[in-house]
Amino acid sequence: MKLFDVYPLNNITIEKANGSYVWDDKGTRYLDMYGGHAVISIGHTHPHWVKRIEEQLNKIAFYSNSVIIPLQQQLADKLATVSGKTDYQLFLCNSGAEANENALKLASFHTGRKKIVAFKKSFHGRTSLAVAATDNPSIVAPVNETDNIIFLPFNDVNALHECFVKEGNTIAAVITEGIQGVGGINVASDLFLQTIRSLCNQYGALFIADSVQCGYGRTGKFFAHDHAGVDADIYSMAKGMGNGFPIGGILIAPHIQPKHGMLGTTFGGNHLACAAALAVLEVMENEKLMTLTADNGAYLMEQLKAIPELQDVRGRGLMIGFGVPDQLKDLKKLLLQEYKIFTGEAKPNVIRLLPSLALQKEQIDEFLQSLKQAIMALNKNTA
Ligand SMILES: Cc1ncc(COP(=O)(O)O)c(C=O)c1O
Repeated sequence: MKLFDVYPLNNITIEKANGSYVWDDKGTRYLDMYGGHAVISIGHTHPHWVKRIEEQLNKIAFYSNSVIIPLQQQLADKLATVSGKTDYQLFLCNSGAEANENALKLASFHTGRKKIVAFKKSFHGRTSLAVAATDNPSIVAPVNETDNIIFLPFNDVNALHECFVKEGNTIAAVITEGIQGVGGINVASDLFLQTIRSLCNQYGALFIADSVQCGYGRTGKFFAHDHAGVDADIYSMAKGMGNGFPIGGILIAPHIQPKHGMLGTTFGGNHLACAAALAVLEVMENEKLMTLTADNGAYLMEQLKAIPELQDVRGRGLMIGFGVPDQLKDLKKLLLQEYKIFTGEAKPNVIRLLPSLALQKEQIDEFLQSLKQAIMALNKNTA
């Protein structure tokens, strides 16, 4: 049987990993500045995470949501402490798209309304509502097309006001990333997020903070939206939550009431996923990874800004992007092939850095040195 060919692949087979390094089948070591797409939060194969999962595996891996699973409550309690959203409620699922799908559905149930405000260059996932709220027509199938989504320009406060004045009473929710990831590392301004909060309050809509990529400590605060000093009604989470073990979830403000049957999933909140997610939060706390991320991110950003060839270095914590000029268009490829460094990208010309939050200062220096050498090599080629 053939694999359904939907991914353009690098010709590399990764066989093992540790911290911020991965090794291929020929024993070559790569520095992982991509974190497997922002998923590796506490570092590959962290020993505490491995131990927690192993121990759980030997007890029970799965039972359905028809019984009490104490690990779910333990995870909710730990999330309350680490995120600071102490009075929120937790619903567990399996992926980022599913988290957003449930968040949007819940907003519609709660308000009895149909319209969703989303933004240009947003990415919220590939399930039906999540993809409809994603600004990329090429991944929206005809069956996903709907008039219920209103797309507005990102960071445009006037457009938000105008939209709410016109149709505020039909809007169930506004959904936005705190920093757009797939869209190219675009940071939401504090004013933009504060305006969403106040318009949602005024018109009775819910504020959904898509934190699938920018959340879970990646920006140095638990949620990227926290930098603006506002609370959302629903936070969606996934990538960093399990450090590679598939798990997603939404945090739900206390004023939103649950009802039996309203949301549900077979696999969400299973024993093994909860054990993995608990291990992640324990390590984040014990190793003070959010503080480390803020410090290391500021250092990396400052060093990148000093490289004249890089355009508009931006982001927060360890979610950083920069543009590359045309003569450096092969930079990402060269970093991977010659310097053995994984980075991310956003089309057409943005390099995205999404390393583990446990990235060490020496590894940042290793990256910067290779980056400068690669730029020099490309400059020489085009001179
Ligand atoms: C901001 C954001 N939301 C949602 C998703 C979808 O997550 P998943 O691929 O786990 O469904 C992604 C994935 O890249 C994302 O970056």
